[in-house]
Amino acid sequence: MDYEILINKDNLIQVDQLPKKLTAVGKNIHPTVSLDENETDDIMLEERAAYYFNQMVNDFNRTHKVQIVPESGYRSIERQRRLLKFYFEKEGEKAFDFVALPQTSEHHTGLAIDISLIANGKYQSKITGEEPEIQELMEICHQYGFILRYPKGKEDITGYTYEPWHYRFVGLELAKRIKESGLTLEEMKESEKVKNR
Ligand code: DAL
Ligand code: ZN
Repeated sequence: MDYEILINKDNLIQVDQLPKKLTAVGKNIHPTVSLDENETDDIMLEERAAYYFNQMVNDFNRTHKVQIVPESGYRSIERQRRLLKFYFEKEGEKAFDFVALPQTSEHHTGLAIDISLIANGKYQSKITGEEPEIQELMEICHQYGFILRYPKGKEDITGYTYEPWHYRFVGLELAKRIKESGLTLEEMKESEKVKNR
C-alpha cells in the first residue's frame, strides 16, 4: 500500500489502489446515510492506518475527559455516491465543496478517518475546530502518521472547505514533513515532483 497516495478531484482512485486489508476501529452509531444490506456498522481502516489510529485515540482518551471517537473511515464507491446524493439533495451544489465525487474520495483508500467527540457523555455530531481537544489533536497527530488533510486557508489547493474532523494517514515520515512545512499533501507531492525533475 502506498501510504503517500494522493487522491483528489484530479486524481481518481484506481482499482489496484484499493486497500487490501481493512481492520475495524469502531462502530458507526450515527451513520449519515442508512447502511444498505451489504454493509455492516463497522468503521474500517486499512490495517496499518488502523494500528496507528488506535494508538493515537487510546493515548489521547487515556489522558482526556473528552473522548475521540471514529465516525467514518473506509467508504466504498457506492457509499460515497449515496453520501453525495444525500448532501446534494439537502444543500445543492454546495455539497461538492465538502463531499467528494465517487472515485475521488480518499476515504476509498481506507487511510482517511472522520472523527467526532464525546463530551460529558454526549456525542458531538459536528466538529468546528474550535474545540481545545481538536486543536491539540491537530498538533500531535503527525506523531502517529496522520495529517489534517483539509486545513483552513488551503481551500483553493485541496478543493475542499476546512474539515477539522478529517485526518489522513500518510506514514510517520511524510506526516512529520507536512507538519513542519505547513504544506498540504498536494503541495508536498508537487514539490517532490519538481525536485525529481
Ligand atoms: N469530505 C471529503 C472531501 C470526502 O468526501 O472525501
Ligand atoms: Zn472525511
